Amino acid sequence: MMRKIVVAVTGASGSIYAKLLLDKLQQLHQQVAEVGVVMSDNAKQVWEFELDNTAYSNYPFKFYAKSDFMAPFASGSARFDTMVVVPCSMGTLGRIASGVSDDLITRAADVILKERRRLILVARDTPLNLIHIRNMQTVTEAGGIICPAVPSYYSKPKTIEDVALTVVNRVIDLIGLENDSYRWSEDN
Ligand SMILES: Cc1cc2nc3c(=O)[nH]c(=O)nc-3n(C[C@H](O)[C@H](O)[C@H](O)COP(=O)(O)O)c2cc1C
Repeated sequence: MMRKIVVAVTGASGSIYAKLLLDKLQQLHQQVAEVGVVMSDNAKQVWEFELDNTAYSNYPFKFYAKSDFMAPFASGSARFDTMVVVPCSMGTLGRIASGVSDDLITRAADVILKERRRLILVARDTPLNLIHIRNMQTVTEAGGIICPAVPSYYSKPKTIEDVALTVVNRVIDLIGLENDSYRWSEDN
């Protein structure tokens, strides 16, 4: 089945994860019917600060304003099957956990959960306080997946991009797309 995916980018550190996920979704376009993107105001600021560019505006995907409740994925009837929040700030995590649907990001997440579809939060902060941990528990109990932006090193990544890809490749696996990426095996 061709996938309909929402990518929400928020103002946590780690814009590189959003960039690499959008790059991957572009590469894997044959498996994807539609990608809708929404960015928070802070997401744009952090992206520009961390990546020194505004390349988020170059993708061939449809971008929606954070205030646009007319976007298709603001309703379950549009049948977007997956939403990834990448990176996901503790603020957005908290708003999703408490059901605040006051912008397109939190509304879309609310819709995905109520429709029992796949919500993946690439949560980023360290250390975590009890409020963060409880919010992660709440989202998990509601059916969401907390996929922390925590890289792995057993593939021996050489560059910052390789390190960040260890997170993004796990997100692609969670979305359920076929992807040619490093796999741990007995041959290693
Ligand atoms: C450079 C920078 C890095 C940040 N990193 C984080 C972070 O890793 N995690 C986090 O929860 N907030 C982080 N913040 C703070 C969020 O941007 C802020 O809480 C914001 O209100 C989140 O709103 P949003 O989720 O709507 O983007 C960072 C802010 C800046 C400017």
